[in-house]
Amino acid sequence: MNIVLGITGGIAAYKSASLLRLFVKAGHQVQVVMTPSAREFITPVTLSALSGRPVVSEFFTANTGEWHSHVDLGLWADAMVIAPATACTIAKMANGVADNMLVTTYLSAREPVFVAPAMDLDMMAHPTTRRNLDLLRSYGNIIIEPAEGELASHLVGKGRMEEPEGIFKAVTDYFAAREHQPLKGKRVMITAGPTREKIDPVRFISNYSTGKMGYALADAAARLGADVTLISGPVEVRTAEKGVTVVEVESGREMLGECEKVFPRADVAIMCAAVADYYVENPSAVKIKREGNEPPRLALQPNPDIAATLGRVKRRGQVLVGFALETDNEHANAADKMERKNLDMIVMNSLRDAGAGFGTDTNKVEITYRNGAFATVDVPLKSKTEVAADIMRAIIPLTEQ
Ligand code: C5P
Repeated sequence: MNIVLGITGGIAAYKSASLLRLFVKAGHQVQVVMTPSAREFITPVTLSALSGRPVVSEFFTANTGEWHSHVDLGLWADAMVIAPATACTIAKMANGVADNMLVTTYLSAREPVFVAPAMDLDMMAHPTTRRNLDLLRSYGNIIIEPAEGELASHLVGKGRMEEPEGIFKAVTDYFAAREHQPLKGKRVMITAGPTREKIDPVRFISNYSTGKMGYALADAAARLGADVTLISGPVEVRTAEKGVTVVEVESGREMLGECEKVFPRADVAIMCAAVADYYVENPSAVKIKREGNEPPRLALQPNPDIAATLGRVKRRGQVLVGFALETDNEHANAADKMERKNLDMIVMNSLRDAGAGFGTDTNKVEITYRNGAFATVDVPLKSKTEVAADIMRAIIPLTEQ
């Protein structure tokens, strides 16, 4: 495979040499493209020696006037990996500020682009950086989330570049999935996000679900070749893959309605949505006013349990997967849910685990099969993208039965 390795000016640039070595050892051709400031952190000599190719950094070689074509590089490459990616380069990529060879190469890239951010925790948490990363995701770039740990500033937090082995694995797993496409020809339906249950025209009952896990599952399934329908409550996240059809819904009852249309033709259904347990029986047609001292009383009705409803009509050969977000007595509750809803597999996360569950970019789950059909899979704390890939891989054997 031909890989453009983009290196930007961050302390983690010293790790790029190890990443380059991993790619070369695995038999890939690597062309390094550095930003001018990256050269302050790691010398081009090391990188050209390891890659066996001159490093590209300027638009042309000063003494010969030789022009370096970012367009040619874009055509040559099968993958572009930017590691480390600083907040500055991420911002330039998100906004098309093509003032160096790396960003121009990025803008010309037709191949999948992987971005491994590395920065201080506050820069990483800043809304600007979050927005820029969301933009890159929406362009279909794959963000290899940074880990928590000690940073160059000696502060501890999220911003530490994923280790070279982790980046290497993310890139190679991506291409392995694309090549083998074990879910080719399979229809996968996924529910994601929260639901909103109307109180009046301006208010609703909902929950903290962001939809990140469901969207990551949809992207992972599409990468494995599946034809994916994502039935989604209102969320900010977007899908990065072309093979995903998104159906937007608001309430739990609407979600059930869409699921009932799609499920009969689905091979796999993954119930990842956090459906509100209740809806308001008679939402007001006009905004409820604050009148008198008596607070309004909302009459609630239970929402349909979508997973259980589909579990009742499931045909032989259809695979139904559920989630269990538990705070206590996790294993017993998850096992009970799997029986009650007639699921074939359940993915359990415990809210007792830091970094798991709602709102976070990471997750830690345990995957159990009905009647112990396969051994339980423990997925340690990692990015939701990686957890999604593991969950999809765990579903494959069920589709082959
Ligand atoms: O019973 P509990 O809400 O904990 O079950 C969680 C599982 O059931 C998840 O897979 C969730 O998507 C699904 N579910 C559903 N419809 C509901 C409630 C939960 O599909 N109304």
